[in-house]
Amino acid sequence: MSDKKIKIDIQPIGKRMLLNEPANGLKSILDAGIEIKSVCAGKGTCGKCRIMVLDKEKKRANKKELEILTPGEISSGVRLACQQIFDRDLTVYIPSSSLSEKQKLQIAGEEELIKPDPICKKYFIKLKRTESGNAQADFNRIKNALKEKYNIIIDSIDQKVLAEMTSIIRKNLWEITITVRDHEIILIEGRDRTASNHGLAIDLGTTKIAIFLVDLVTGETIDSKGIINPQIIYGEDVMSRLNFAIQSKDNAKKIRKIVIDKINEAAGEICRRNNLTDKEITEMTVVGNTAMLHLFLELPVNKLCLSPFVSSIKESMDIKARDIGIKITAGGYIFLLPPIAGFIGSDHLAMILAAGIHRRKGNYLGIDVGTNTEIVFKAGEEITSVSTASGPAFEGAHIKHGMRAAPGAIERVIIDPGTGLPSIQTIDDKEPVGICGSGILDAVAALLKAGLIDKKGKFKTDSGNICRDSKGESNYILAPSGGSRNKQGDKSIPETGSSFIPQCGEKDISISQKDIVEIQLAKGAIRAGIEILLEHSGINVREIDGTIIAGAFGSYIDPKNVIDIGMFPGIPLKKIRQVGNAAGVGARMILISKKQRTDAEKIAKKINYLELVSYPGFDDHFINGMQLS
Ligand code: FES
Repeated sequence: MSDKKIKIDIQPIGKRMLLNEPANGLKSILDAGIEIKSVCAGKGTCGKCRIMVLDKEKKRANKKELEILTPGEISSGVRLACQQIFDRDLTVYIPSSSLSEKQKLQIAGEEELIKPDPICKKYFIKLKRTESGNAQADFNRIKNALKEKYNIIIDSIDQKVLAEMTSIIRKNLWEITITVRDHEIILIEGRDRTASNHGLAIDLGTTKIAIFLVDLVTGETIDSKGIINPQIIYGEDVMSRLNFAIQSKDNAKKIRKIVIDKINEAAGEICRRNNLTDKEITEMTVVGNTAMLHLFLELPVNKLCLSPFVSSIKESMDIKARDIGIKITAGGYIFLLPPIAGFIGSDHLAMILAAGIHRRKGNYLGIDVGTNTEIVFKAGEEITSVSTASGPAFEGAHIKHGMRAAPGAIERVIIDPGTGLPSIQTIDDKEPVGICGSGILDAVAALLKAGLIDKKGKFKTDSGNICRDSKGESNYILAPSGGSRNKQGDKSIPETGSSFIPQCGEKDISISQKDIVEIQLAKGAIRAGIEILLEHSGINVREIDGTIIAGAFGSYIDPKNVIDIGMFPGIPLKKIRQVGNAAGVGARMILISKKQRTDAEKIAKKINYLELVSYPGFDDHFINGMQLS
């Protein structure tokens, strides 16, 4: 046997396996600790272990693969991991639909292990009892004990903590634990509580809020919860909420209170299920977009509503949690990173920190796809960020059968170029009820690849699986009414070349011409942002050393498809990494470590913000970006 190992690169996880000898694909992937689905345990019958072989040399599909996979999938390089033998150097792509939920979660928040060094630290002390003739004040006794035992200098004590100090000391027979934050005492507890120190990290999004409970002693995230931002009742988008808040002081209070109450409720629930009380949470960090941060702090938002969209804050902030009604320990603080600009919040900064873009050598692109897509480009030592108004199409809004990523949403689409018929996959394998962002992007890429639409996004209306809606416009049926999914060879749908074009059924789930235009507008804005960043830096696409796709939505998109439709330029797939909710990871990092806070503040000072709309040639870039190529 030769000593040469077989190299298998697993994307988008970015893991390299070295095999001593040829091995079964499924077994190798599982052995590498990647939790790929394998419901039939490798018998080749469930079809859950789909992978894509990215190299030119692909083995012919075997009998089982021919039975399960569509011709379109086979020609695109899709295979079943359990039916593959890894016997040569390969790059293999595992779509998120083939990963277990647990693995998806890991991808949704890849994080490096960092040494915990929180700003709030606990110290156990035994005080000397009061004796006659020794009238030293309790506060002074604590200060002296901390200085003597730990060389800690105390400057102040929270007023509410001070009020309870004397009784806690005596009730606990002079054995107490002191929590110190930046020379201030923010909590006094009885007995030795140094092993229990907890914080909360919040990623405050326009649609969703992610809350993480973190053990500040070990640095581990021990629980998390995602909730819908309740401010949604005042408008789905940022501008509607700002317009609501601007109308009166009462409105500003209302829109702040609703989100504070919800965070308190969700945080209380997480604490309870981990046998903690909110009083045991010593610190909270919050990252979010600029508008959400303004509403959270009830800052004036009038300047945010009008060009040039100026933020009220540019520095990081420490505020007493109780001052804004957040329930953690009475003396506890909330730490907020600064937003970068009106449309680039501290979540972007947290994403850069978590993905380590600032530390990477060479030219790195970071993209967080959403209603506003923030893009950062690190070219050499320069860091430049832009925000593009990509709109809500990726959330399913403005799309005829669009919906959020929920059970029954079509999330994957492949179209057989031969028959023009689709194969779809829905979330949780439920009957299709709509189409979510990743499904829409897949559908547009598949329509283009199958030659059913042209580069301008126009339908070639005489092709198969097209129906006409009530306005006589063409639609492509992804799932016909009746709930059954399109399967290859379903003859109820006219085949390519048929001259008969049926009316769309009322319950057909289809993609309309307008839907395609919505996607073109969204992807045109993103592509324009990327092109302008490259142009501004004088770097071409071949000089990009790596690309990070962040955000929950970003972890579900298929990078190959977004390149095929021209949303991203032609970056080699092996240079793309999907890291999931990096902003949430960043919020945790600044909770655990003082150094990470300082690093984030340094990054904030380095970022140049580029206003896209006033950039020369923006319109041309945008129009070019709308082309599907
Ligand atoms: S594990 Fe079921 S088809 Fe591969």
